[in-house]
This record gives sequence, structure tokens and C-alpha cells, in this order.
Amino acid sequence: MDGNGRWATQRGLPRGAGHRMGVEAIRRTAEAAPDLGIGTLTLFAFASDNWKRPETEVVGLMRLLKAYLRSETGRLARTGTRLTVFGRRDRLPAGIPEAIERAEAATAAGTKLSLRIAVDYSSRDAILAAAAGLGPEASREDLDRALRDDVGGPGDVDLLIRTGGEKRLSDFLLWEAAYAELHFTDRMWPDFGEADLAAAVADFARRDRRFGGLKPVPVAA
Ligand code: FPP
Repeated sequence: MDGNGRWATQRGLPRGAGHRMGVEAIRRTAEAAPDLGIGTLTLFAFASDNWKRPETEVVGLMRLLKAYLRSETGRLARTGTRLTVFGRRDRLPAGIPEAIERAEAATAAGTKLSLRIAVDYSSRDAILAAAAGLGPEASREDLDRALRDDVGGPGDVDLLIRTGGEKRLSDFLLWEAAYAELHFTDRMWPDFGEADLAAAVADFARRDRRFGGLKPVPVAA
């Protein structure tokens, strides 16, 4: 969800205003996803490397996360959206891990969309933590399972969208995105909405996915 800061700066607003508008984009995107055939939507809200940002911005993002969990849980439950948060919880400010647990429990019955939010997440750290529990004979499937079970990873990614014009993965789902189709858009995250998501899905549907083989594997598979 890149581009919040630039979106705000371009308008003469503090960066936090961009993050606040980013929350509206989360709502729009999550509500548009099921009708576009998306069953799982994974959002990168806070990277472990984002702790390097100025304290005021970090505090603002954590407050926003807490407010989001408090204000959105009812709506998520009503729209059949199951919320899960993955990443480290031991460094989050007091009260946030409990708020996450409450939101996860309240939305656990949702079947229309699985909305997964990465907070204090580093893919390299997640891979390291999952691999640490495996022996030398471990298979790819073992690591895949460990990432899902121990770290709460989302499994293989089909389509990875980055907004804000940058073209890099920034330590996001590196293992899971091994065969992801990459879609980069200049749209700043606060402006992202249904039409952008539909355009990304249409782009995805035009790709030939061969997974290293010669024959395209149908998109539905
Ligand atoms: C990247 O844009 C965005 C972030 C680091 C934060 C994303 C957070 C939200 C959209 C809202 C908070 C999340 C929840 C779940 C309530 P940037 O700040 O790096 O933008 P820039 O590259 O333009 O500076």
C-alpha cells in the first residue's frame, strides 16, 4: 500500500493524512474484492523495517491500526470478511495484540473474503523463523507449512500489486510470491479503488502462467 506519504505531501498535508486516507482505500478494496473473484486479500500495512521511521509517524500508524480494529470489526463481520493479522506481535504497543485477537475472534466466521494484514512483518525474518524449526531433510512443503502455521503466512500468492510507482518487493512474501504475477501501478494507495483492482485482475487474467513448464496453467487453477 505504497504512496500514502507522497499523496499527502503533494497536497501540502502531513504524511499522517495520507495514511488516514489509506484506510478508506483498504475499505474500498476489501469490499470490491469478492465480486472480482478474490478470496484472499493480503495487505502490507507495516514492515519490520518501518520501525526506522520517525517516532511520530510510527505512533500515528499504530494508533490508526488500533482505531481501524475498533471501528471496522463490526463492518467486517457483517460483510463476511474474516480478518487475520500476521507478523510479530511482541513489539507492538500495549493493547494492540489484544485488539487484534478480539477482531480476529469476532470475524472468524467470515467466508466471503479472507483479509490478511501484515503488521511488523519481514518475509526474511518469517522464513528464518519457520526454517529454524525444521531439520536438514525438510522439504519445500515442510517450510511452506511452517510459514503458514507458525508465522501465519498466507500461502502462495497469485497476484502481487504494488501501488505508488515503485517496482520492488521490499521484504514482502518473498517465499510465497515465487510465482506471483507482479502488477505495478503509479496510483498512490489513497487513490486506489475498485477500478484499479479490476484493472490489476484483468492484467492478471491475460498472463500465461507456466510455473517453469511450457504449457500455460489456466488462471482458475
Ligand atoms: C507506505 O506508504 C505505507 C505505509 C508504510 C503504511 C500503510 C498503512 C495504511 C494504509 C494505514 C494503516 C493500516 C491499517 C491496517 C489501519 P509510504 O508512507 O511509504 O508512502 P511514500 O512512499 O509516498 O512515502
